[in-house]
Amino acid sequence: MYKRQGGGLPVWVLNDPDAIHQILTKKQPSYGKGVGFERVKMLLGDGLIVSDGEHWRKRRQMLQPAFTRPSIASATGLIRTCIENRMSVWDAHAESGEPLDISEEANQLGLRIILRSIFGDDLELLDAREGGNPFHMVTNTHERDLMFAMRFRQLWPVVREIAEVRRERGGPLGQDFLGRFMGSVDKESGEPLDMQGLVDEIMTLLIAGHETTAATIAWAWSLLARHEGVQEELRSEVMGHVGLKPPEASELKGLDLSHRIVHETLRLYPPVWMFSRQALQDDVLAGYHVPAGTQILLTPFLLHRRPEFWDEPERFDPGRIPASGIAPVRGAYIPFSAGPRRCAGDLFALNVVVQHLAWTVGRYHLSPVEPGAPELDPGVNLRALHPIRLRVRRA
Ligand code: HEM
Repeated sequence: MYKRQGGGLPVWVLNDPDAIHQILTKKQPSYGKGVGFERVKMLLGDGLIVSDGEHWRKRRQMLQPAFTRPSIASATGLIRTCIENRMSVWDAHAESGEPLDISEEANQLGLRIILRSIFGDDLELLDAREGGNPFHMVTNTHERDLMFAMRFRQLWPVVREIAEVRRERGGPLGQDFLGRFMGSVDKESGEPLDMQGLVDEIMTLLIAGHETTAATIAWAWSLLARHEGVQEELRSEVMGHVGLKPPEASELKGLDLSHRIVHETLRLYPPVWMFSRQALQDDVLAGYHVPAGTQILLTPFLLHRRPEFWDEPERFDPGRIPASGIAPVRGAYIPFSAGPRRCAGDLFALNVVVQHLAWTVGRYHLSPVEPGAPELDPGVNLRALHPIRLRVRRA
């Protein structure tokens, strides 16, 4: 535990798995989201990721059906189409020998997948807009400053417009996230989301789901390129279970090594490398008195590399976390957080990354251009400081 006295209230860095598990699960109602989410609030209003208390509880209950296993499995086809549409880029790199910037590639793919999952067929209307799809601004800059916030808010009326057109059109609202969110009602009042609530939750999905998933794809490929043996084992697993065709939703579960690789990637390179909580009342954690108001930083990146819990923590070893993602030491592996506020999109993200690995590894072999692990850029998400360039050849 590391404690720093800031200008006002103390800020703690908590790195003890048991205490982390407690504040995320049993003691969750006693901790708010904290200082790390203040900037994001500017972008996402009262969306799930930043809201707290009763407002959050009701919303999470209301929207949870959109994130269940069957709902996510039903998105497998559209995710597949997005992956397939990028294959021409991979083919061109395999042809020309020109290295592929996997960070940029994963970013483009990640944005396409989340937009398609939110807006379904209406995405084509957005693509056809004069000046291009306005949501592409999200990948053009990685700064999350005031300027970004101002441009991001200009997307609100676009979401509103699509929702209004859908409602006026009548008939089914759709099986994409927008349709599911529009059709959800508060369990107690029976009321649907109001328009600003809908906009906040859609924008939350965009911010929460895009860069995180893209970073995981990029880091997974960066690791596989540097570990030829594991890449070969993955290829054998996929060829044995699925072959060269894209995997069906029912086949994904059987891809044990693929899931292990994703979990080991998330251990070494957790996209959400740090997040915060704030004590709402006095508490005791790991034997220390925690005054109400204390800001607490949780750092998956440091926690996932503690030698007390991970043997040779720097080593890429997909054997150490089971495919279920339940790590041997409780509270020592939290890429998706834990407890009631665990990431709502975890199943979605796993579906995307496992599908991507499984489909592409059968077709392509990737190797690094630059030797060694990429330098890190710990911004809002954990990204590589420089483009990760990989050489692509047909497998
Ligand atoms: C590998 C990819 C992802 C990672 C590592 C990740 C990580 C996280 C983490 C750590 C949190 C919780 C933060 C906290 O406890 O304070 C979170 C929350 C959340 N994530 Fe994800 N996420 C990923 C993908 C996604 C996707 C694809 C979606 C949407 C489709 C999504 C939607 C959300 C939402 C809505 C929350 C707020 C949940 C709540 O507080 O009720 N995430 N995510």
